[in-house]
Amino acid sequence: MKNIGFIGIGKLGLDCAEVFAEQHTVRGYDIYPRTSDSVKVCDINELVNQSEWIFIAVPTPHQEGYDGSVPSSHMKPKDFGHDAVIDAIKNINRYARSPKKVVLISTVLPGTTRRKFFPLLDSQHQFLYNPYLIAMGSVKWDMINPEMVMIGTEDGNPNALASELIDLYKTIMANNPRYEIGTWDECEAIKIFYNTFISAKVGLVNMIQDFALRIGHINVDVVTDALARSTMRIMGPKYMTAGMGDAGACHPRDNIALRWLAEEYDIGYDLFDTVMHAREIQAKNLARFLLDQSATHNNLPVVIHGKAYKPDVPYCIGSYSTLVGFYLEQAGHKVVYVDPLADDPANVVDSVDYPAVFLWAHNRKITYEYTGDQLDTQPYCVITPGSIIVDPWRKLTSTAEYEVVHYGNTRPK
Ligand SMILES: NC(=O)c1ccc[n+]([C@@H]2O[C@H](COP(=O)([O-])OP(=O)(O)OC[C@H]3O[C@@H](n4cnc5c(N)ncnc54)[C@H](O)[C@@H]3O)[C@@H](O)[C@H]2O)c1
Repeated sequence: MKNIGFIGIGKLGLDCAEVFAEQHTVRGYDIYPRTSDSVKVCDINELVNQSEWIFIAVPTPHQEGYDGSVPSSHMKPKDFGHDAVIDAIKNINRYARSPKKVVLISTVLPGTTRRKFFPLLDSQHQFLYNPYLIAMGSVKWDMINPEMVMIGTEDGNPNALASELIDLYKTIMANNPRYEIGTWDECEAIKIFYNTFISAKVGLVNMIQDFALRIGHINVDVVTDALARSTMRIMGPKYMTAGMGDAGACHPRDNIALRWLAEEYDIGYDLFDTVMHAREIQAKNLARFLLDQSATHNNLPVVIHGKAYKPDVPYCIGSYSTLVGFYLEQAGHKVVYVDPLADDPANVVDSVDYPAVFLWAHNRKITYEYTGDQLDTQPYCVITPGSIIVDPWRKLTSTAEYEVVHYGNTRPK
């Protein structure tokens, strides 16, 4: 039996506190009067001092008009409010007469905990960020049957406190959930982008509904049921590895053509434009990163390793490599490619006998592993010592000859 305290016993906190109260001694504190049959509602001093674990479940409210119940996409973007979390942390500092295990549940945007909350907490206390995937109406069931439990630590490593929290959860779980340990920032990101995946999915499905109404002879369910049964590519983990952008003979051009359809049928919005615009700016960001690497390494030339839109094929149609190359050229950098198969010979060389910043565009293992093929990409040319390899797939490792930079991993080494 542990002594557990909940600061903030509202829609989420009270039900969660009551779940813990089935196995442990639980106290709750709230700025509004609350009652419970199993949680002892008390003042903040008692809560802080009688609890070994303190969960913070106070609101991180959006501003008026930013909940999605009325149009808001035209409004200035705004962060959540953090005052209640800051107040809870200050109360722990003020009243604690011994070190506490502090767990923040409230939803915040990536980077907030490190920037705004952790620096406020007295150093005698330990801290974890542990957001919940819980829905209203089923809080207690969701609490003990989660799809996963996210536990954020300062450096992303599982520490002793994270293990203790897992042991605590094991006393209440009805299922055997996945425990995902990451940095505070990674857990903030998992939580909030989980929700975004749902929003994007619903947005796409309802877009098909809009097309059905405008085009005719389409039952949206026939389309979405067929897509829902497509577990090979779209309803599964495939394409969940960040890397080079979408490419090929079909995908980009299909989306580009669908922009026309959205306009033709006066759908009123253009998700395809948004998707294609993001793809282009992502390529531009990657080009900038390559130029930054070049600038910090004696202005080494940039070489794109792989020009075709994917390994093992010659086709440069719809290639993301050439899109990145376009932005490199636009920035005034002469780019060359190495690719023994590429069907577009422009700026393709057979060998690179100088150190360079390489963009490792192809990763055949990631591209073809669904077929059972596990072979790695063999370098298309000799990599001259002193080179930098920018690996957007984060699979290569540095050697004595060259340094590998993992694009998309900003954890301190
Ligand atoms: N409700 C959900 O389903 C859900 C799910 C996952 C995450 N969350 C997140 O959990 C947090 C809490 O959500 P909620 O729905 O329970 O909000 P809520 O507003 O229903 O409850 C928050 C409680 O905190 C109290 N409170 C406010 N300021 C306080 C303070 N300074 N000190 C002590 N208590 C204070 C409020 O009186 C209220 O009772 C939010 O960040 C939310 O995004 C909620």
